[in-house]
Amino acid sequence: MKLWGGRFTKPTNELVETYTASISFDQKMVKQDIQGSLAHVDMLKHCGILSAKDADQIAAGLEKVAEAIQSGEAALSETDEDIHMNVEKLLIDEVGAVGGKLHTGRSRNDQVALDMRLYLREELCTLVQGLLQVQQALLTQAEANLDTVLPGYTHLQRAQPVLFAHHMMAYVFMLQRDIERLTDSWKRVNQSPLGAGALAGTTFPIDRQFVAEQLHFDGICANSLDAVSDRDFVVEFLSAASLIAVHLSRLSEELIIWSSAEFNFIELDDAFCTGSSMMPQKKNPDVAELVRGKSGRIFGHLIGMLTTLKGLPLAYNKDMQEDKEGMFDTVDTLKGALALFAPMMETMTVKKDQMYQAVRHDFSNATDLADYLVGKGLTFRESHAVSGKIVQSCIQRGIYILDTTLEELQEFSPCIEADVFKVLTPEAVVNARDVAGGTAKKRVEEQLAGAKQLFDETASWIDEKIQQIGS
Ligand code: ARG
Repeated sequence: MKLWGGRFTKPTNELVETYTASISFDQKMVKQDIQGSLAHVDMLKHCGILSAKDADQIAAGLEKVAEAIQSGEAALSETDEDIHMNVEKLLIDEVGAVGGKLHTGRSRNDQVALDMRLYLREELCTLVQGLLQVQQALLTQAEANLDTVLPGYTHLQRAQPVLFAHHMMAYVFMLQRDIERLTDSWKRVNQSPLGAGALAGTTFPIDRQFVAEQLHFDGICANSLDAVSDRDFVVEFLSAASLIAVHLSRLSEELIIWSSAEFNFIELDDAFCTGSSMMPQKKNPDVAELVRGKSGRIFGHLIGMLTTLKGLPLAYNKDMQEDKEGMFDTVDTLKGALALFAPMMETMTVKKDQMYQAVRHDFSNATDLADYLVGKGLTFRESHAVSGKIVQSCIQRGIYILDTTLEELQEFSPCIEADVFKVLTPEAVVNARDVAGGTAKKRVEEQLAGAKQLFDETASWIDEKIQQIGS
C-alpha cells in the first residue's frame, strides 16, 4: 500500500513506478531528510501539535532509521518512490502507527525544497574550501616564480613578457570571484521553505521560525507558493558552477599547451599524468583534459535546469524532480576537479629557463622600444612605425632586437641612444610595467599581499558557516 494509496483502486503500473521514482538519486539527501524531519517533529512538539511522548518516539525512530539506512540494513525501495516516503515508511515499520504523525503539517513539496537547501549549503562550504585550496596552490607557484619571466600572449601570439607569478595570480583573482559568487548565494540558499506545505501553508498552528532556527537557517521563505516552486538557488548555483568550470577549463588548456613539446614551459608531475597503451613515450595531461571536458556537462545541467523551469506554472510540478541529478553531478564534478587541481598545480615543474629563452627569442620588447622613442620626443604613432620597421628588418635577418648594434638601430631613428639596450631586456620590460595590477615584480607582490588578505576572509567565512550549520 502506497502512503498516498487511499483514493486509488489499482496498483501503480510497474513502468510508471520506475519512471517516476527518484530514490535512485535522491537517497543522496538521506542525512538532510532525516535532519529536517527531526527538526519538524521537534517543532510539532514545541507547538503542542504532537504530544511529547509521540514526538520523542518518532525522533528516536528516525535516529534508528538513519542508522539502518547508513549500515545498509534498511533497504530503500522504488515502490516508495523517493527518499521522503522511504524514510517515512521505514519509520512506521520501526515505531508503528505513531510514525504516521510525522508528516503532520508538511508536504513532500516543502520537504524536498528543504532537503536541497540543506544539502547545497553544506556543499557551498566544501566548494569554497576547494577553491581556496586551488588559490593557495596557485599562490605557492606565484611566490616561487616572482623572477620567472614568460611570454605573455594575445591572439596566442607573443605579445609582452609577464612574470609567471603574475599569470598565476590572474587565476587567483578569477577564482576569487567564483568564491564570492558562492558566498553571496548563501543568503538566498539558506532560507527555510518548511511550513509552506504543499503550496498554501497548513492549517496546523506550526512555528516556521522555530523550525528554521533549529536548522540554522537565516530566515524563512516569505511566500508559500514561491517556497515550494523556487529553484532559483539551484540555477544560481549551476551558473556560478559554470563559471568555475570555465575558469578551470581555461587553466587546463594552458597547462595542456604549456606541457607540449612545442611550448615546453612546464612539466606536470608523473602522479598527475597518464600514459598511452600503445605509445611508450607518451605522458598525457589527462586530468587537465578531463577538467576541460567536463565543463560541458556542467553547462548542460545549467541549461537543462533553466529549460525545465521556464514553462512551469506555480506551484510544485513533478518536472521539478529533475532539479537534483544535475545539481549533485555538478557538485561532484567540481569537487573532483578542485581536489586534483590543488596538488597538480603545486607539484608542477616550472621550466624557468625555457620560458626565459622564449622571451629572449621574440619581439615582445617592441612596445618598449616604441615607448622609449616617445621618451625621446616622438609621438607614439611615429615610434610605433619606427619600432615596426626595426622588427621587420630583424625578421629578415633572422635576429631579435637585442642582437642589433646601436648603429643599426640609429639608421631607423637618430633618437636612439646606447641606453636603449637597458630598457629592452626581459627583466627591464617586465619591471617597467609599474602600474597597479601590472606585471612589475613589486606590483605582483602587491597582488600576492592582497590575495592573502582575501584568503583570510574566505577562511573565516568557511569557519563561520560551518559553525552556524554545525557540520
Ligand atoms: N521526489 C519528489 C521530487 O524530488 C518529491 C516531491 C514530490 N511531491 C509530489 N507531490 N509528488 O521533487
